[in-house]
Amino acid sequence: MSAIEIQGLCPLKGEVWIQGSKNAALPMAAAAILNRGTTVLKNVPGIQDIRCMIQILTSLGCRCSFEGNVLTVQAESLSRVAIPRTYGTAMRSSIVLLGALLGRCGEAATYYPGGCSIGSRPINLHIHGLKCLGARISELGDEKLTARADRRLRGARVNLPFPSVGATENVLLAAVLARGTTVIIGAAMEPEIGQLCRFLNSMGAKVSGIGTGVLKVEGVSELHDTEFSVEGDRIVAGTYLSCVMTAGGRAVLRGVNGGELKEVLRVFASMGAVLETGDRQIDIAMKGRPVKCDVVTGPYPEFPTDLQSLMLAVLAVSEGTGSVRETVFEERFAAAEELKKMGACIDVQNDTAWVTGRYPLTGTGVTATDLRGGAAMAAAGLAAEGITEISECGHIFRGYEDICRDLEGLGARIRRKE
Ligand code: EPZ
Repeated sequence: MSAIEIQGLCPLKGEVWIQGSKNAALPMAAAAILNRGTTVLKNVPGIQDIRCMIQILTSLGCRCSFEGNVLTVQAESLSRVAIPRTYGTAMRSSIVLLGALLGRCGEAATYYPGGCSIGSRPINLHIHGLKCLGARISELGDEKLTARADRRLRGARVNLPFPSVGATENVLLAAVLARGTTVIIGAAMEPEIGQLCRFLNSMGAKVSGIGTGVLKVEGVSELHDTEFSVEGDRIVAGTYLSCVMTAGGRAVLRGVNGGELKEVLRVFASMGAVLETGDRQIDIAMKGRPVKCDVVTGPYPEFPTDLQSLMLAVLAVSEGTGSVRETVFEERFAAAEELKKMGACIDVQNDTAWVTGRYPLTGTGVTATDLRGGAAMAAAGLAAEGITEISECGHIFRGYEDICRDLEGLGARIRRKE
């Protein structure tokens, strides 16, 4: 895997266009197989996970093209329901194809999904939801999963004890073409879910309750073609906001809705940033070191778990001792050990990391432990004396279209090393 090299202590200044949302585009691409025609998705990020999803759809018999961030899926020719192990185990999103294939074909086969190692990440809620709609799920040996519905899935009431993003997506995709009405109680409320619902409705689905924890899906017999634009990626935006917090300076982020980052903007403002949101734009200015704070992650609209590692990097250079409590994933503090190599003072106790800031950090060799942990190394490297080299950057390229291009555009001294 390639590495990224950063020369720190250079304040940021400039504008950056935020890529389309990974976690919205992936379930939308899977949902495209519910339409037996042609589905066009715009502003799709050119990232590894999207290329993997395209490989899955192609292996099922769909015809896909992906050019200039426009993904076109012709699903009329879909002829297979089994996802190859290589792709099924490569990322978390492959699991939502269970719901999509059950909805389209009444059967599916895949493998326990891959993705960032940030906890056990079971799929019991996915299986519970699909069983409520009448699917029979078999967990075979060798991590293989098969699902069948003797006839068309039937609408049902589905209670989710935890607002799982993926389980909500899986049930939505299975319910759209089911016979009758489905009500998902305890649904995830992340903005990516709202985008998925609006996308499905643009194809002729009947989803209501969007933005709430109770989603209602009236089953329809078929969907039709659509063209839909993916919103800007709020987590990528939050990543670059974190980089301004650590490096200082100012930046204009375009193509992203600040309303999807309210809690993050509140926290950064409390730490001393000056923030302004406009029409699909966020302006941030940061002078001096951030003031410490205490953050607890949680399901939307709470502080997003995907920015927890970035928060560690910001606190690592802040004034005073702050804390981050992680309530969503049980093993998501791997980045702390890497930050400590740069001189960060972090003490992890159970679900909470206590961080005493110091400035500057010290540039050195670190490893990207996972997608967002890798991004946190970049944020920390911007506030480190000397050179920081991040290895195992494949994790980062799974979710960031081109983090070097974006940060260089903001004035960072950063480059990719093969
Ligand atoms: C999605 O993962 C995102 N991934 C994650 O982003 C994000 O961190 C997460 O939602 C939470 O917001 C994609 O959208 C591709 P969950 P997902 O199901 O669906 C437990 C990134 O960095 N759980 O909401 O896997 C689970 O173990 C990635 O872009 C069960 O117990 O998240 C976890 O503790 C990382 N049983 C919690 O719920 C289940 O059946 C949240 O998981 C499902 C989940």
